Amino acid sequence: MSSKGHISTIAVVGSGYMGGGIAMVFALGGYAVALADADAQTAEQARARVNGEAQALESQGLLADGSARLVRENLTAAASVELAVQGADYVTEAVPEELRLKLDILGQIAAAARPDAIIATNTSAIPIGKLAPAVTHPDRFLGVHWMNPAPFIPGVELIPGPATASPIVDIVEDLIRGVGKVPARVADTPGFVANRLQFALYKEAVRIVEEGTATPEQIDTVVSNTFGFRLALFGPFAIGDMAGLDVYESSYRTLEQAYGDRFSVPASLAATVAAGRLGLKSGRGFLDFDSAERESLLAYRATAYARLSQLRAELGSAPGL
Ligand SMILES: NC(=O)c1ccc[n+]([C@@H]2O[C@H](COP(=O)([O-])OP(=O)(O)OC[C@H]3O[C@@H](n4cnc5c(N)ncnc54)[C@H](O)[C@@H]3O)[C@@H](O)[C@H]2O)c1
Repeated sequence: MSSKGHISTIAVVGSGYMGGGIAMVFALGGYAVALADADAQTAEQARARVNGEAQALESQGLLADGSARLVRENLTAAASVELAVQGADYVTEAVPEELRLKLDILGQIAAAARPDAIIATNTSAIPIGKLAPAVTHPDRFLGVHWMNPAPFIPGVELIPGPATASPIVDIVEDLIRGVGKVPARVADTPGFVANRLQFALYKEAVRIVEEGTATPEQIDTVVSNTFGFRLALFGPFAIGDMAGLDVYESSYRTLEQAYGDRFSVPASLAATVAAGRLGLKSGRGFLDFDSAERESLLAYRATAYARLSQLRAELGSAPGL
């Protein structure tokens, strides 16, 4: 390992939807990236597909000039998993989400890679501690969870497992930040943070459909034009604090009467309100607000929402939906 912090060569094992996108991001970042799949032909097809995608995105002005050339020069297809990983400083697997398969592939990677190569998994939900036994020297193994489509979604969750060495997490954090993404360290629990929240919302949405209260189309319209619109700019805690936690608490009381325990007031929300921490209006809620910045925050929010509305109007509605 040397240039680019500590990493200069990368292997991506599993060259499908996620693997292809992840490989493109690293190739755009100037890394030498080898793509591998179950066989040489699939890896070669993926290399050609990723090149084509980079070319198309550049032509549409969605990637900078010269991007397609960077991907063409930096991305190669390997004839096997072993050949892809043997000289790599950093390897990520992105094979299908099946525990057995992931364990097999991680074992294969660990056997062929250098003992000091960093090994990552792009699992969506399997705890890292469950996968770690497949990797020799598990101190260099962690979860690095990208979102789809990887070239455009900014956030990447970093999940240290029980044995991961903290300098390894630092190196990967630099790597991810260096290719323009926003890394967030999260604990090793099923679904991590993003998918746990995403699946909680999805389940409630399906429930509403099952009850016959709203159709999928109605729900999508409501979500993407109301609180989902805000979520492009703020997380649930900033939004809750700006709304007022007393309002949240009383809303939960109403919801609990209708839907039971799953909507009971969270204990820490009740305690926060009882302590007079109501959010932005009292200077503190779950978050701490800098009172000198209050007006700037409100002005930022107004600008951000207005600009996001303009962008949506420019884009028009999604075709085919
Ligand atoms: N699709 C998403 O939205 C998304 C988002 C985040 C994370 N993930 C995770 O990323 C991983 C990959 O998902 P995907 O959607 O890219 O799947 P995919 O099916 O598009 O790609 C998987 C690739 O792995 C290859 N593969 C299968 N067996 C292999 C083997 N033995 N050796 C090498 N390659 C093999 C397949 O040929 C395929 O190219 C999963 O763990 C998934 O949970 C997916």
